[in-house]
Amino acid sequence: MNCLTSKRILLGITGGVAAYKAAELVRRLRERGAEVRVVMTQAAQAFITPLTLQALSGQRVHTDLLDPEAEAAMGHIELARWTDAVLVAPATADFLARLAQGRADDLLATLCLATRAPLAVAPAMNQAMWTNPATRDNLALLARRGVRVWGPAEGAQACGETGPGRLLEPEALLDRLDGLFADGALAGRRVLITAGPTREAIDPVRFLSNRSSGKMGYALAAAAVEAGALVTLVSGPVALDCPPGVTRVWAEDALSMHALVQERAGQADIFIATAAVADYRPRQVATAKLKKDAATLNLELERNPDILAAVAAMPNAPFCMGFAAETDNLVAHARKKRLAKGLDLVAANWVGAPGQGFDSDDNALELFWEGGQESLPEAPKTRLARELIGIIARLYQEKYPQGTPQDLHAQDSA
Ligand code: C5P
Repeated sequence: MNCLTSKRILLGITGGVAAYKAAELVRRLRERGAEVRVVMTQAAQAFITPLTLQALSGQRVHTDLLDPEAEAAMGHIELARWTDAVLVAPATADFLARLAQGRADDLLATLCLATRAPLAVAPAMNQAMWTNPATRDNLALLARRGVRVWGPAEGAQACGETGPGRLLEPEALLDRLDGLFADGALAGRRVLITAGPTREAIDPVRFLSNRSSGKMGYALAAAAVEAGALVTLVSGPVALDCPPGVTRVWAEDALSMHALVQERAGQADIFIATAAVADYRPRQVATAKLKKDAATLNLELERNPDILAAVAAMPNAPFCMGFAAETDNLVAHARKKRLAKGLDLVAANWVGAPGQGFDSDDNALELFWEGGQESLPEAPKTRLARELIGIIARLYQEKYPQGTPQDLHAQDSA
């Protein structure tokens, strides 16, 4: 997919070590046919020279707010109007703070304030600065105002520490920018997603659960927002930030997740069940902490409701998609599951293999639907999620060319 052809991208570079990656980003953007103008803060110029960016972008680099010559050529307001999207990469903690305050004390901050184009930031900083509550608050504020926050990635840092704070690689930033212009595949559609594990209480301090990290469901929620959907995420207990633009409600156990989904499924156009719902729960939850007096302990378990199958069986069921995590006979099990649960689409993946499935950043999926199948080879879950949302949008459109059961229902009762 390339939606960047002829797009006008304003790339803001602020003063961090990762500024060198901006050079590669400019080159790749131009390869994809985008027109790029670069704006650098004073601090950015200590890390990479405007001359490099000028050579790569084929345009004069903008650095000063109060430069009469530059203003005469293309003034800051003109530049703010010219662009189709602004990306600040890398965005330092200081720049994010200034952006959150709405300051206009240099050219880049002023442009961010003056433009009506979508604005994205790709933070890069020391991991302690990233986790500092001041930075977290600034980012939350920016996200609420509709600023897209892309990354950071985790890993080794230039300062010698390891953790979150690395600038996303140019390829990932290109994908995100591309996604901005590909918006609309699910414009206005209501998407309901379950994610993460459930916790089934044994007593007040213990529970049964599983290794699901929730990463796939959260990545799908983010990708659905990018595609223009209104997204509600019913999440089990996970340690993930809510993607910007997503409404999140928390569910602890399978019964509460089931109830939260039942309340919302009637208004959804698409339901995606990624949660690893516990199949069983303890029949009795002890009111006091169980003691270890006996040598053995028997727990009696009872079946939990199948949340996905229940939604798929609703009279005006939304488009339903489920996951099938398998350790053997992937294709046969997945096909059977699709039919047994009455699903429009099932995505099967191997679990148990190192680096894939539960709690991993990567995954590979085999998709099955009525009369079709497709393989999505191993890739980061964020990228897979975007591809999957594209496929869901296509199948959904094919199934409901005239609108969803919900739309038709609304028209009938109007
Ligand atoms: O039956 P199995 O657990 O393999 O099916 C997996 C699919 O069904 C996943 O999409 C999962 O989110 C969904 N599911 C559910 N409620 C359950 C069990 C599974 O929604 N109780």
